[in-house]
Amino acid sequence: MCVTGQTQGKIFTSLAPMRGLTTRHFMDMLYDCGEPDEYVSEFLRVHPTATIPSNIIDLIENRKSMVGLSIQLLGKEPEHFSRIAKMLQNYKIKSINLNCGCPMPKIGRKGVGGTLLTELNTIDDIISMISDNTNIPISVKTRIGYKSPREFAVILSHLARHKLSAVYVHARTVKGMYSEPVDFEYITIAKAALDCPVIANGDIKTAQEAANIIEKTNANGIMIGRAAISNPWIFRQINELANKTKIFAPTGEDYFNFIEKLQSFAHKLVLTDFQKTSSVKKYVIPIADFVDPSGDFPYRIRRATTLKDLTNMCKNFFVKK
Ligand SMILES: Cc1cc2nc3c(=O)[nH]c(=O)nc-3n(C[C@H](O)[C@H](O)[C@H](O)COP(=O)(O)O)c2cc1C
Repeated sequence: MCVTGQTQGKIFTSLAPMRGLTTRHFMDMLYDCGEPDEYVSEFLRVHPTATIPSNIIDLIENRKSMVGLSIQLLGKEPEHFSRIAKMLQNYKIKSINLNCGCPMPKIGRKGVGGTLLTELNTIDDIISMISDNTNIPISVKTRIGYKSPREFAVILSHLARHKLSAVYVHARTVKGMYSEPVDFEYITIAKAALDCPVIANGDIKTAQEAANIIEKTNANGIMIGRAAISNPWIFRQINELANKTKIFAPTGEDYFNFIEKLQSFAHKLVLTDFQKTSSVKKYVIPIADFVDPSGDFPYRIRRATTLKDLTNMCKNFFVKK
């Protein structure tokens, strides 16, 4: 059964989970910019004493958006996945998304995230345990192998054993981290092997690239992470391109207003001014890198230590220029 899909003139879009970035506030801001068709939360770490943290409950219950939200789980013990999944049954979520892709060494050393791709029977056990004990749809976010894409066929043969609502494929290996080139041919391979929707992910930076990937791979949709931070209007632009309507081009003022809104969220946090500045810089640095390839504006933003400095730098670049 397809829970996502592509109809003509429409590309299904998903916001990639990004720990520390894809917060409720960020999702609420995307809602105003032109949001994706669904969200996947940053990972909730599953372990023997894990419960559902307050930021995830806040996301489920208080976000502005009405589109589906999947909650991503990262761990390795099937019985604890089942326990958390039963708790999630009390909430309205689109799916439980299993993280089989996180490449960070400190995560990988614990045998979770991308390392699960070396323990395919554990992936089977986790999925079976969740589906035997709850009625929540299950989706998987995976890379195309741990060390090599040659592993992908076997990975797919395991995923094909289960009833999944979608498989999100970040088309590089775990060992390839973020530097290995993305290879979307593996999306076509996944499409052929799986009955469920396959969503393509990895380095998609523009609306045109999204459209090209759909055409080339026949994927059921695309998932975007970092490009949605540097260009929060990207989902709107993808829709506009697909509908052949005028593509929105944000002005300096649009960017400045967006950054001001980020700051207003930071102001509410119980942090020092320096910490608040760092929390806003996580978003502004990718924007600065995107809008000023010369590197001068990003260089200055990286050195900002107060919110006031950050505002003045952004005002000078975006509004007075
Ligand atoms: C800061 C950061 C945090 C991330 N956190 C997660 C996460 O919690 N779960 C996950 O599955 N992937 C995570 N990812 C990977 C993204 O979801 C995505 O697969 C990856 O960035 C490639 O897509 P992109 O090129 O569109 O950003 C993270 C990536 C970044 C840059």
